[in-house]
Amino acid sequence: MSPTLTFQLNNQAIHVDANRACDPLLDFIREDARRTGTKEGCRSGECGACMVLVHRAGCTRLVNSCIATLGQVAGAAVMSVEGLTDRLSGALHPAQRSMIDQRAAQCGFCTPGIVMALVFGSAQSTPAVPTAVLSGNLCRCTGYRPIIDAARQCWNDSGHVELFDSEQPDTEAGSFPGFESPASLAVALELRAKHPDATVLAGGTDLVTEWRRNGTRPSHVLYLGRVQELQRIDATGPDLSIGAGVTIAQAIDCLLGPWPEAADYLRRFGSPAINANATIAGNLQTASPIGDLAPLLMVLDARVNVQNQTADRSIPVDTFVAGYRRTRLAADELITEIVVPPRPDRLKLFAYKVSRRFDQDLASLNLLVSFQLIAGVMQQVKVAIGGLSNQASRLPVFETACEGRPPTLQVMQQLAQTLNAAIEPITDVRGSARYRRLVAQNLLTRLALDMNGDTETNLRLVQPT
Ligand code: FES
Ligand code: FES
Repeated sequence: MSPTLTFQLNNQAIHVDANRACDPLLDFIREDARRTGTKEGCRSGECGACMVLVHRAGCTRLVNSCIATLGQVAGAAVMSVEGLTDRLSGALHPAQRSMIDQRAAQCGFCTPGIVMALVFGSAQSTPAVPTAVLSGNLCRCTGYRPIIDAARQCWNDSGHVELFDSEQPDTEAGSFPGFESPASLAVALELRAKHPDATVLAGGTDLVTEWRRNGTRPSHVLYLGRVQELQRIDATGPDLSIGAGVTIAQAIDCLLGPWPEAADYLRRFGSPAINANATIAGNLQTASPIGDLAPLLMVLDARVNVQNQTADRSIPVDTFVAGYRRTRLAADELITEIVVPPRPDRLKLFAYKVSRRFDQDLASLNLLVSFQLIAGVMQQVKVAIGGLSNQASRLPVFETACEGRPPTLQVMQQLAQTLNAAIEPITDVRGSARYRRLVAQNLLTRLALDMNGDTETNLRLVQPT
């Protein structure tokens, strides 16, 4: 008998042939379980039509089921939109009731995903911001006004609704042929040494999309989602240590303590469903030129700690990225943690992301600048740029030009020419090279205005009321 992987769907036990560990959860829900309330839209994690809830170890996450695999939910409990009414013996959940009351659906295609996002929002311990919770859900026909009103009604009306039975123990999640799922770092490193060609999978928000785009599936996966040692955050020492498997949502929370200026930048990283599943190391290891995290970590002087079975080493983030989608990670190594040094005295941090759409879009340009302001001039200047060429990188020539200069409007506008000479933007669907040069230079003006507390031209926060 071939091995099976087990999870729950709407509180029913499901057993699936383990050879399907890399199959998308969405396909199983719709085509095998015939729970067709969950919709398929973009199939790349961007529209939210396929959202479900996944519960494991007391924690419930919003998940885009199109970019989650069956292997990743082994041992967990999954709930699709049908599970809500099953659970409530046919009654509507407050999220469903509010969508009806507020007339927040027309064709209804996006509605199941929006309902699941509202359920997730209603379960938060502090009142969630509707636009933030719904930022990963696209609606093509209703318009967002009534959907936001539905969110408010839902969060006012929701009492406690226990959605999940006592879950299956995580010990039932295990390794399957071609899908290794170690529970400790030692075993993960052993498997990495034995199978250097295996595909390392964590949140899968980038990889699973790539498999779909290329029509491929890896023959061997090393899944790190169960390695507890990789999920630790240590903020007790002078450095902030963030385990490789820490989710983007958790990483953002701990970065915002010492660096609150990055809040506007980081809130545009991804939707709640992406942030709850993508990991900090995954974001760095993909070495995407449009990753938002790498340039921020570069100007914070962060390091990537990596290990193989016999040794470890520490690599600055700015040299860890070696080119387009390439890093300096060796074939037998795994990232174990990201280490961010303490905030220096008098540090100023400026973080800008320019994209065609405000929420959850790929950057046309990221510009990150940090310096210490000493006697009115910039010292220890670090500048990183992303989104405009084949990799995120520091700009040492421009940094040197900034050293010892005051960050005034006049000086920053003078420095714009140096910045222009230091970058080599490309033209692609997100912007022309000429546009990117102009934006990069204009952001120096923005920096000088921000430095002087200019609030009249604050273009960054636009919230519907
Ligand atoms: Fe669009 Fe999954 S189908 S996010
Ligand atoms: Fe039609 Fe939202 S109601 S896409």
